[in-house]
Amino acid sequence: MSENEIVLKVEEIHKSFGDREVLRGVSFDVRRGETKVIIGPSGTGKSTLLRCINQLTPPDRGRVWLDGEEVTNSGHRINYFRQKIGMVFQNFFLFDHLTALKNVELALIKVRGMNKAEAREKALYELRQVGMEEWADHYPAELSGGQAQRVSIARALAMDPDVILFDEPTSALDPELTREVLEVMRKLAREGMTMIVVTHEMGFACSVANEILFMENGVIAERGPPDQLLYDPRFSRMKDFVGRLDSRTEG
Ligand SMILES: Nc1ncnc2c1ncn2[C@@H]1O[C@H](COP(=O)(O)OP(=O)(O)O)[C@@H](O)[C@H]1O
Ligand SMILES: [Mg+2]
Repeated sequence: MSENEIVLKVEEIHKSFGDREVLRGVSFDVRRGETKVIIGPSGTGKSTLLRCINQLTPPDRGRVWLDGEEVTNSGHRINYFRQKIGMVFQNFFLFDHLTALKNVELALIKVRGMNKAEAREKALYELRQVGMEEWADHYPAELSGGQAQRVSIARALAMDPDVILFDEPTSALDPELTREVLEVMRKLAREGMTMIVVTHEMGFACSVANEILFMENGVIAERGPPDQLLYDPRFSRMKDFVGRLDSRTEG
């Protein structure tokens, strides 16, 4: 596996709900170790795009490849691809009746067929990666939102994914908890994890993203490295949007 090979290829994705065309031809590649940040107004199709990538929502048109293998139209193999394309959601989706450890172990046992001892060791390792090992025996209700989100990141990591999709992972958290989750994501990026992150955390986007994709009305309206999108006067739409975000949080 070389550093610069394309891990994920997204080509001409279209998706409508009824007569509303939500995605109108979205294409991009993600190379190994890259972090792409997706920004854009609410309702512009960001979550739908992530769901089309791992086929939780099948696109109407367009194709997705992971490591050169087609994910779209992959039949039963979609379960394999869903392990390799991790997903972290805004609201964690942990099982309330299972401890942090069991939440991470579950798919290792059920999906990857590990025995209990192997699964436990791997789950504890991943919890350590996100700074949650000492909370292994706690239930989600006993965790802060930031801690719960870190457990859900550990759960995604446990599948040894090729890429992790994050859908507004901190937008349900207050600023302090946001910081601890972003810190974990920064560490993953530094360690070479390939990630697509939908977020409006501009500090994170500017310091971690290799490229920002600014989506508007179902297409990528602007794209480029953060400094280009934020400072090059030829790009104005994302700057306008980000400006409105700032005034919203201040007001
Ligand atoms: N399952 C669905 N059925 C019908 N409409 C949907 C469905 N999922 C999303 N939509 C619509 O698609 C549009 C884009 O949604 P979404 O991808 O969640 O946007 P974003 O994540 O950018 O806020 C919205 O208008 C939303 O109501
Ligand atoms: Mg969304």
